[in-house]
Amino acid sequence: ANILVIHGPNLNLLGTREPGIYGADTLESINKTLADIARHAGHNLYTSQSNAEHELINRIHDARNESIHFILINPAAFTHTSVALRDALAAVSIPFIEVHLSNVHKREAFRHHSYFSDIAQGVICGFGAHSYELALQAAIKQLAH
Ligand code: DQA
Repeated sequence: ANILVIHGPNLNLLGTREPGIYGADTLESINKTLADIARHAGHNLYTSQSNAEHELINRIHDARNESIHFILINPAAFTHTSVALRDALAAVSIPFIEVHLSNVHKREAFRHHSYFSDIAQGVICGFGAHSYELALQAAIKQLAH
């Protein structure tokens, strides 16, 4: 199957961005690990990052034409603000898992609400780069059904 991983704003800075919160792994190394796991499981993995809300929305729209079967998305700060990004995922109706490196629930109150969780297949947060791997494992399991 075709799996798309979407990273939201500021995640291009992973590795140097608040490493105490987000860890030392770069986005490139996270993407590479995910691609390896997907390949071994017989799937194609595509990755995408943008700091711009409209580009993330367009990426989600394109996913439908590209026969993407499953999306892993870390909407980053847009998690807590973007009805538009939520509506894009609802519009294409591709199943997705919401991913966060940090445990948003033990951070500031404004990070406790997500515009995505109630329409996601599931949510994984708090395990750093490993959150993405756990989400990918869950996606692979879902795709086998
Ligand atoms: C994040 C958590 C968000 O609150 C924050 O704005 C981010 C990253 C995470 O992966 O922990 O940019 O989504």
